[in-house]
Amino acid sequence: MAEDILELYPDSGRRHALHGLYLEQSLAHADDAGRPFIYSNFIASLDGRIALPGANRDTHQVPPAIANARDWRLFQELAAQADLLITSARYFRQAASQEAQAELPLGSSPEFADLRDWRVARDLSPQPDIAIFSASLDIPQSALDYYRERKLFLVTGAAADPAKLAQLTADSDLKVITCGPQAAVDATHLREQLAGLGYRRIYAIAGPSVLHTLAAGGALDRLYHTTAHCLLGGTEFDTFIWGNELQPAVNLPLQAMYLDPLAPDGAGQTLAIYGS
Ligand SMILES: NC(=O)c1ccc[n+]([C@@H]2O[C@H](COP(=O)([O-])OP(=O)(O)OC[C@H]3O[C@@H](n4cnc5c(N)ncnc54)[C@H](OP(=O)(O)O)[C@@H]3O)[C@@H](O)[C@H]2O)c1
Repeated sequence: MAEDILELYPDSGRRHALHGLYLEQSLAHADDAGRPFIYSNFIASLDGRIALPGANRDTHQVPPAIANARDWRLFQELAAQADLLITSARYFRQAASQEAQAELPLGSSPEFADLRDWRVARDLSPQPDIAIFSASLDIPQSALDYYRERKLFLVTGAAADPAKLAQLTADSDLKVITCGPQAAVDATHLREQLAGLGYRRIYAIAGPSVLHTLAAGGALDRLYHTTAHCLLGGTEFDTFIWGNELQPAVNLPLQAMYLDPLAPDGAGQTLAIYGS
């Protein structure tokens, strides 16, 4: 396999193949510490956009100018190491209306067969379980059915609507994790709650509000951040974190950085790893 990824930090000049790049980033220390390791991943443009309005303007989507198969491969490699995914109710609402951009990882297509085998070889469950953040509890049952082979959790606050909660849990296999007194999740104790359920490698693949909730609650250890070297502009966009100013700021020192010159075509992208 061609070694077309150039390491910029810490060993400037080393070359790597794309396949395996993030699988090599062993998350084993999560097991050593006995404490869940929580990580997330975003692709953004140079001007910081992660999503722009989609065709029908009601929902935002990752812009095709930055979405690319090489970054998607790394996204899947990170999922291959996870025992739990954190996603949002928004994903399931979009899935129910056929607007979701992809199935939740691991992808079922042949190109990710090696990653599915990688899990089996390590005695991991075939697919990571799923935790869904929601305050509204507006989660279509039909979209959950696709994932019935996995354990599904609803993460919500104590003030979420009790009637909706009763209905949702009666109609599905969702187990409820209650975090904080409001309807919105306060993630301050999320790490211990997920540890108590036996989870050790937790991959947050939701969007900007969930990332803010995790960062504000001290529940973010590492951020994988791809910057596609292009400008998108636009006035209605998402950036990768959204919420009140974080005070103090959450420090995420650089762990590694790579240059992928091959995608997006004609632009290239830097692959950075921040945190611990
Ligand atoms: N470029 C990238 O790498 C990347 C990565 C991820 C997402 N995106 C894009 O970013 C856009 C926004 O994503 P998103 O809407 O999933 O992101 P989000 O803003 O993180 O999540 C939205 C939903 O998550 C739930 N939520 C968030 N914080 C919560 C909290 N503290 N407590 C309870 N529920 C909470 C809410 O559900 P309820 O409304 O049910 O309460 C909310 O509607 C999408 O277009 C997506 O495609 C891009």
